[in-house]
Amino acid sequence: MNLFCVCSGKGGTGKTLVSINLAFACAEFSNVKLIETDMLTPNMRFYLELPKKNCLNDALNGKKKPKETEIALKENLKIVQAAYDANPFKKIDHEKINKIIKEIAEENGTVFIDLPPGLNEDVIALLREFKSAIIVTNPEMGAVSDARKLVEICSELKAEVKGVIINRKQNNRKNSRRPENTRSSSLRKACNRKISGF
Ligand SMILES: Nc1ncnc2c1ncn2[C@@H]1O[C@H](COP(=O)(O)OP(=O)(O)O)[C@@H](O)[C@H]1O
Ligand SMILES: [Mg+2]
Repeated sequence: MNLFCVCSGKGGTGKTLVSINLAFACAEFSNVKLIETDMLTPNMRFYLELPKKNCLNDALNGKKKPKETEIALKENLKIVQAAYDANPFKKIDHEKINKIIKEIAEENGTVFIDLPPGLNEDVIALLREFKSAIIVTNPEMGAVSDARKLVEICSELKAEVKGVIINRKQNNRKNSRRPENTRSSSLRKACNRKISGF
């Protein structure tokens, strides 16, 4: 099984949109599951116009079995949305969420886990368990700095960074002169990883 945690450090870099694009692209040649784990700011439902019927939170609350939370978008592409409404006061049971993801994931397929923002314990717990990361960043120093911290955290957790994606890179001349629109070469150097523009 190929499993990737799509993560960023900084919020709003495009993890969810990138996860969705990766899932659709891989579904051209593989069985794919896309699992949203951002319980506090879940947005997948808006991007994909998902019905308010199944979500990961239902499995966490014991209302549904893990596989019952899947929504099929195509024959070989299934989505699990995190939640409909955020509950900022509820602590996430990491052991339980990891177990649910393992039950949903299939042996001969590809799984993308869309992680919550930040470098908090919810993010760490998923990386520690699943050991594989795709980092999504933006061409701005703040986002790159957080991505760099995440590369270091992955190294400590022995999670493999499969790649770094620069989302929202603008190639036109006007923007390339803006100080925040960092060059790919500096990003590559900062993260010490292979970078793909998106
Ligand atoms: N490549 C892109 N071009 C334009 N807008 C984008 C792009 N990627 C993300 N966005 C926008 O940025 C915002 C955050 O994206 P999202 O995928 O929800 O980020 P995250 O999951 O990291 O919080 C959304 O409004 C989304 O539409
Ligand atoms: Mg998101």
